[in-house]
Amino acid sequence: MKRAVCPGSFDPPTFGHLDIVGRASKLYDEVVVAVLVNKNKASLFTVEERMDMLVAVTAEYGNVRVDSFHGLLVNYCLAHQIPVVVKGLRAVSDFDYELQMAQMNHGLAGVETLFMATNPEYSFLSSSLVKEVAMYEGDVAHLVPPIVLERLVSRLAELR
Ligand code: PNS
Repeated sequence: MKRAVCPGSFDPPTFGHLDIVGRASKLYDEVVVAVLVNKNKASLFTVEERMDMLVAVTAEYGNVRVDSFHGLLVNYCLAHQIPVVVKGLRAVSDFDYELQMAQMNHGLAGVETLFMATNPEYSFLSSSLVKEVAMYEGDVAHLVPPIVLERLVSRLAELR
């Protein structure tokens, strides 16, 4: 069984994430989308809410599972027999930090990282920008799946 993990915060999941997860699902028998539990970082959605949205938006792929993890990604990989991390690279600006993490993860546990060039349509896209634009009532309907849009709009309305 060839297994890979797509890790991230997914606060919230965007079409950029889905592009990478969907393409990875064609390369591996199973792809685990793993949501980082990070108590030090304020988030708009709880880990459970993010997982719930991810389950809904990845259901069509058939071989994608959603999980959460805390601590080091490599420890999660070792515990679940996952040898590869798949990451999207949007632009050169992503490269420095992603390279550092990939080299660290390989050095720590021999976990490989596969970088996938993001679809140019989503090269500017990030969860933080989606939240900011949505917060000021900008249109993000083309950037996130409908179920995410619905929950984003209602969460922001609750906070207003
Ligand atoms: O969506 P994000 O926030 O850019 O995802 C970053 C993530 C979760 C992939 C990265 O921060 C991570 O792997 N964190 C887990 C902690 C860890 O393993 N740190 C050492 C990295 S070398």
